[in-house]
Amino acid sequence: MTTLEELYRRIRTCPDCPLSETRTHAVPGEGPPDAEVMFIGEGPGYHEDRQGRPFVGPAGKFLEELLEGIGLRRDQVYITNVVKCRPPNNRDPLPSEIAACRKYLEAQIALIRPRVIVTLGRHSLAWFFPKDSISKVHGQVRRKDGMYFLHLYHPAAALHQPAMRETIEEDFKKLGQVLEEARRESASPQPMERAEQMRLF
Ligand code: URA
Repeated sequence: MTTLEELYRRIRTCPDCPLSETRTHAVPGEGPPDAEVMFIGEGPGYHEDRQGRPFVGPAGKFLEELLEGIGLRRDQVYITNVVKCRPPNNRDPLPSEIAACRKYLEAQIALIRPRVIVTLGRHSLAWFFPKDSISKVHGQVRRKDGMYFLHLYHPAAALHQPAMRETIEEDFKKLGQVLEEARRESASPQPMERAEQMRLF
């Protein structure tokens, strides 16, 4: 898969798991191809399935508010999900469905190469760190495969729980900090580049 457009075409016509039989629209994801930050949710809900766009319902509205709080707009970040088609009645995606969809998120990460990945909820966390529990690692920043990761509870969990809302708002502040750190790091040469500049190789 060489371009995002080609990838989106494949996702929209994907027949690889039973969710393809019940979806209205597949929801590939959206955002700039060079986005610095990628948000990864669980899977499309009712509104996303109708519109073919990620996080356009109430959870998406909360996500937009959180972004605004740190001076970012929705159209500056990339937003996608672990599974691209809605599980019926918003049930959890099955391991087999997550496995069938894995190649698409892998390709999105490879094409976009974000500096920071924000996992939203436990399925997204488990996609990268299957042994971890969201209640232990939420709000934590760590590195893997040259990217920063920040783990958040799913914004939908906050919609009816004020305490959870506060936790997510607090955790979200880390995104501004980690983004600054990632930008600083990419502005200063890495050890190998520095060595090359000094003609050590
Ligand atoms: N919840 C998700 O996990 N993803 C969406 O796109 C919408 C709601």
